[in-house]
This record gives sequence, structure tokens and C-alpha cells, in this order.
Amino acid sequence: MKNPPTPPQRASLNEHLYSQAKASDELRHLILHIAQAAKYIQYAIRTTEAGLAGSKNQFGEEQEKLDVLSDVIIQQHLMESRLVATFITEERKESVELSASAPFSVVFDPLDGSSLVDANFSIGSIFGIYPGSAILGRKPKEQVAALYVLYGPRTILVYGAGNGVHMFLLNDVGEFVLLREYLGIGDSAKNYSPGNLRAVNENPGYKKAVADWLDRELTLRYSGCMVADIHHILCKGQGIFTNVGGSKYPEGKLRLIFECGPFAYLVEQAGGVASDGKSAILDKTMDTIDQRSPLVIGSSEEVENACAVLAG
Ligand code: AHG
Ligand code: MN
Ligand code: MN
Repeated sequence: MKNPPTPPQRASLNEHLYSQAKASDELRHLILHIAQAAKYIQYAIRTTEAGLAGSKNQFGEEQEKLDVLSDVIIQQHLMESRLVATFITEERKESVELSASAPFSVVFDPLDGSSLVDANFSIGSIFGIYPGSAILGRKPKEQVAALYVLYGPRTILVYGAGNGVHMFLLNDVGEFVLLREYLGIGDSAKNYSPGNLRAVNENPGYKKAVADWLDRELTLRYSGCMVADIHHILCKGQGIFTNVGGSKYPEGKLRLIFECGPFAYLVEQAGGVASDGKSAILDKTMDTIDQRSPLVIGSSEEVENACAVLAG
């Protein structure tokens, strides 16, 4: 072309998936359908009255109205994509089969940190994408992409699809536009984010790890929403987030399939590490939908150090 039109100043999510991630058309379309769902969720968060739905999820946890609504919005967009064979959501006991011949399966936590919504803290949605129709029996390292959306003062989408981790901002006309690409996580941490802190009294290793962070005067950054807390690590390029076991939650609070798995994929793509204290999260087999796993994630040296302290 002689005088090609000037491209927009900031790449859209679609353009980035196409030119940087070099994602297949099918994967690109699936991620765009998920991004579309996130726009409806952020609208629902702004306009729906906060409060309990009067029902419980598979873990016996009270569902917020917004948990249920977000779950429905995502399911509708996955169905509309015609690209999803099976999905597993935090809000259902069983996996759902849509179309056996479709290319991908999706795991998701529709709204993470939803109990914080009435306090107007940041909350998020988490997604992992697998090839094929099975999820159970596989490992998080088999994901072809993972992404999360953080609904805070600004709505941010972060995705990885095999070529780095990239961050987008939802603009006023409803487009996700590139903010930063190839996010990186350094080896040492200045910030710590200790989840399930109630466990320190029953878990002497965790007590020691926390004492060590206090001693070394690391800075606490903990909101109670893992999407916001791990986003902080990806954004600042350093930090450690933990959620390990005690008596109430022997394996910690977080679910392997839709919380630990997608974040392990993204953090490792950015140069960080994700462990359960002993082995890599990416190598753990997902046996059941309700499987929990301890999580130690972030800057590699700090994760290594914390795992050693936790092991006693
Ligand atoms: P969800 O809202 O999907 O149930 O998940 C909340 C999770 C996670 O986001 C957070 O890190 C953890 O629960 C908080 O647990 P503690 O407050 O016990 O540390
Ligand atoms: Mn969650
Ligand atoms: Mn949730």
C-alpha cells in the first residue's frame, strides 16, 4: 500500500493477540469473548446492589449476588463463542460440557474477592484456557493461555498466551488498550502479601516466614483479593504472595484449578515462580474440582527462601 493508514496509538487487545502473541484465530476469538464478558461484569459491579444471593457454592461458601451474575455472564459468553468444549467454574460442583468437538476448555473463578465488593475494594475474575475437552487429570502447565481482569479504580486485563504477559486498560469506549507489555518479576522481593494469616498459630513454618519478613522490614501489601495482590507483584515487578495451610484450611484456602493454576502460568511467564511449598504448581495434577493447594508465588529468591522456612 502506498499511503497506509496510521495505526491507532495504543494497540487493542485484538491487535496485540494477533501481532504479538501470534495467537491462533480461535484462541484470539475466545480471549476476546472472555474480555467482552468482563465488560459486562464491570458494569454489573458498578450498578448492582451488593449483597448475598441466599445460596451457597460447591464449597459451602455464601454466594454474593455478583458471584452468581458474573458466573452467568461468563457462561453465556463461553457458549456464544462456540469454542469451548468443557468449562469448570468455582460456582458449580460439576464440570459442564458444551460441545465435545470445540477446541478449548476453560476454568474460571468468576469473581475473586467478592466478599470485598460492599467495601468497594478491588476484585477480579480469573481464567485458564486448556486445549481439548478434558481438564481433570491434567496439569496447569498444559494451559495455552491464562488471564485475569481486575475491577478496581480502573478495569485492567492481563493475559499471557505463551509469549510474555501483557496489561490492558478498559477505555471509555469499551476497548481494552495496551498499557504495558512483557511484564517481568525480579528475583528479590520488597513486598509481602501473606494470605490465610490465621494459620500462623498452627503452622510454625508460616510463623517463622512471617517473622522473617517483619525482621527484614519488607513492606506489607495485602488486600484480601488474590487478583489484586498478585497483580501488585506483576505491576511492581517484585513481591511474594502466600496462602498456606493451618487447621481450618489444611491446604490453604485457594483452589488449584481456577486460582493457583492460572496465576502460576502468568507469574512463571513473567519470570517469577509458583510453588506449593514443595513442588511447582504447574506440575501438579488436577484430580478434583474442589482441590485446594498451598501457594507461594512471586519473586524467585523470596519464594525459594519462604519454601525452605515453611519446610522448617
Ligand atoms: P473468593 O472470593 O473467590 O472465594 O476468593 C477469595 C480468596 C482470595 O482472593 C484471597 O486471597 C483469599 O480468599 C483471602 O483469604 P484470607 O482473607 O483468609 O487471607
Ligand atoms: Mn477466588
Ligand atoms: Mn470467587
